[in-house]
Amino acid sequence: MPPDLRKIYDGFAETYEANRGLFDMSGLLEPFFHRLPPRPGRLLDLGCGAGEPFPRFFLDRGWDVTGVDFSPRMLELAARYAPRMHTLCADLADVDFPPAAFDAVTCIYALFHVPRARHPPLFQRLFRWLRPGGKVLFTYATRDYTGADEFEGTKEFMGQRLFYSHTTPENLRTQLDAAGLVPDAFDRRAIGGETFLWVTASRPASPGLNPRR
Ligand SMILES: C[S@@+](CC[C@H](N)C(=O)[O-])C[C@H]1O[C@@H](n2cnc3c(N)ncnc32)[C@H](O)[C@@H]1O
Repeated sequence: MPPDLRKIYDGFAETYEANRGLFDMSGLLEPFFHRLPPRPGRLLDLGCGAGEPFPRFFLDRGWDVTGVDFSPRMLELAARYAPRMHTLCADLADVDFPPAAFDAVTCIYALFHVPRARHPPLFQRLFRWLRPGGKVLFTYATRDYTGADEFEGTKEFMGQRLFYSHTTPENLRTQLDAAGLVPDAFDRRAIGGETFLWVTASRPASPGLNPRR
């Protein structure tokens, strides 16, 4: 990963206000939320940025939310927009949490910035951090965004060259399966002119359903 991605996001924090709330994410947020248990639980948001829209949506519904981001300036914004979120300034591929600590994990527009070789071990940790029956939702880059079936390199975004990395959706399914996460939906969506895969997966409620563990 180029070392300056964190600095680039520190810089984007300066202009965050201009784009704040530009896109309506409720079509993704609400279906995911309604698949979760009907009581406030614990959410982990990886690459939480300014704490919007996902962390704030969950906080407003009584959930306990932990956000991880490596940009101190984005976390300053999060302190303003999602002040009740617990935050950790760290690389999302390096953090660790106790087993079964969360009911849900989200990683919105951030996993594609992490080298794809680091995704399988992260999926294994996600499985461990989720309570049985817990769910994860993340944005995944595909050919729609990078123009290649597999990609690792930089791409222009808002006047900067940002690092992106992904493999094919088929390989992604294999990686989730190897981690014990069961895909619920691979939803290809265009939001704000950018098409990504929105992936929901579950840790099975019964350990008996997963012979690997
Ligand atoms: C496009 S923004 C998305 C922010 C937020 N999730 C949202 O939906 O608005 C990507 C965020 O991920 C963070 N990020 C990217 N790579 C990261 C990494 N390896 N570890 C922690 N944070 C990372 C950036 O600092 C930035 O805040």
